[in-house]
Amino acid sequence: MYQFFVKSFLFLLSAETAHNFASFFLKIAGLSILKPFIKYGNSSKAKGIELMGIHFKSRLGIAAGFDKNAVMYKGLSNLGFAFVEIGTVTPLPQAGNPKPRLFRLKKDEALINRMGFNNKGLKHAIKMLKNRSKDIVIGGNIGKNKITSNENAKNDYITCFNGLHHYVDYFAINVSSPNTPGLRELQDKEPLLDLLMSLQELNRTFNRQKPILLKIAPDLSESQLDDIIEIVIKSGIQGVIATNTTIVRDTLQTDSVEIASIGAGGLSGKPLFVRSMEVVKYLKTHSKGRFTIIGVGGILSAEHAQKMISAGADLIQIYTGLIYKGPALIREINNVLGLNDS
Ligand code: FNR
Repeated sequence: MYQFFVKSFLFLLSAETAHNFASFFLKIAGLSILKPFIKYGNSSKAKGIELMGIHFKSRLGIAAGFDKNAVMYKGLSNLGFAFVEIGTVTPLPQAGNPKPRLFRLKKDEALINRMGFNNKGLKHAIKMLKNRSKDIVIGGNIGKNKITSNENAKNDYITCFNGLHHYVDYFAINVSSPNTPGLRELQDKEPLLDLLMSLQELNRTFNRQKPILLKIAPDLSESQLDDIIEIVIKSGIQGVIATNTTIVRDTLQTDSVEIASIGAGGLSGKPLFVRSMEVVKYLKTHSKGRFTIIGVGGILSAEHAQKMISAGADLIQIYTGLIYKGPALIREINNVLGLNDS
């Protein structure tokens, strides 16, 4: 039904308008009264898995960027996602880059986006999470405002970390979006270790510490990945989310003139899958499994999901797959990975 009716309609709209339209229905899908009627939901008999001190009903979550303002997490949970990563949240609200900033590459089952952390800011996110149910696992993906210099970036992460600490189950530290100028430089060894050490220090001041995961780009070299492994272990954070979108435009079916006309942005979806899986595999092998890995990037089928798990991911996330395949993909993945596979 999604493929023939809903997708055909949504794909007539601009990519961002379609997202806003879907958001409206996902907010409705979050109403408790509708929960029994949504057929994609997790089975209440599911055993699930324990990771980082958190119980996950299944290994499948929705990646950051879909529910930037924490307004759809109930609907997404009802659809069958075991965890929802809200954000990226920045301390202050910001509009993001001028539109159009989200583009479909249909032939490639991919998207290019340069949203630029459009979000309603920390205060709004806290308000939306105040009455959250403990049944849903929520990750808080945090970043810096565009107007904040890299020298002061740490303060932005600290502000968001402090503000959201009570309301989320884990944190994702986003230093890998290609759409905030200079952000990816924070992945360099020195600033990254300093940032993560500071967040860990702050974490220890709370009665209940929250797991911290680092979200990385797929465009890092092997020696940069070695640095990441060293930093994660040294700082004692719980894991890595691999990967964010890529700035590489190799192996695309879409016409190169069209790609050039779209311009800058992060590529997600099918063409990202092999690289994201390679990064997951590298991290798992070279860290000898010493931390949790969330695998994300180009998962568009249950087979992809299985491969990502086999490569070493403990949990997986999807975003672009949901746009191209619809909610049936959630059920397909949950069925194949098995909700009782721990
Ligand atoms: C994203 N992604 C993202 N990631 C992040 O950490 N913070 C963010 O705000 C966003 N925003 C965002 C917007 C849009 C429109 C897209 C398509 C993606 C990246 C996302 O979480 C994920 O890492 C990649 O999209 C790769 O996964 P998929 O989409 O190939 O399954």
